[in-house]
Amino acid sequence: MITKQLIKKVENFAYSQSDKYHAPSRAHINIANEKGQWLAKKLKAKKDIVYLGTLLMDCKLGHAYSQNKLPQHIKMSAAKAEEILSKDPKITREEKENVLHCIKEHHGVKKFFSIESEIVSNADCYQFASVRGMIGGITNTMGMSLDDLIALYEAKADEKWNSLTLDICKKELEPQYKAIKKLFSNYNY
Ligand SMILES: [Fe+2]
Repeated sequence: MITKQLIKKVENFAYSQSDKYHAPSRAHINIANEKGQWLAKKLKAKKDIVYLGTLLMDCKLGHAYSQNKLPQHIKMSAAKAEEILSKDPKITREEKENVLHCIKEHHGVKKFFSIESEIVSNADCYQFASVRGMIGGITNTMGMSLDDLIALYEAKADEKWNSLTLDICKKELEPQYKAIKKLFSNYNY
């Protein structure tokens, strides 16, 4: 069973890491959480699994970045998640396994472990392929030149648009992705 206490503990950890490292921003955590819950309801998936997944998928992103280990953020986030979840007396082995797969698969895989994992991966894409995610991210990023920021967000918009697997998300994000591409194509470096 996933208790309220566990959810609170995970929320506190994810947001404290965001406040410490500024990555992922609270804006990005919030949009992934909200879209994850929206998708879980629409697709009748386990909402608590999805919520723990969107909270924990990038929980060590900022720490990894600060150590020049960005490509390892998934492994580091999964290890931290395992540490937190293993201390909880109520979560079942199946629930824990599902949450850990949500984290490990959040940048996409050929075949998802569960519908919850596929939802978490698609919710992640909203951080860069939606107008809200793009603006929320850019306005909360510090220490980068504007040129680098725009180049990064254009590349990430492409990457996340190409990672979407759920039709409901593709349908919602297509006009937003196109608008982002159009906007950035008018940016003069
Ligand atoms: Fe990630």
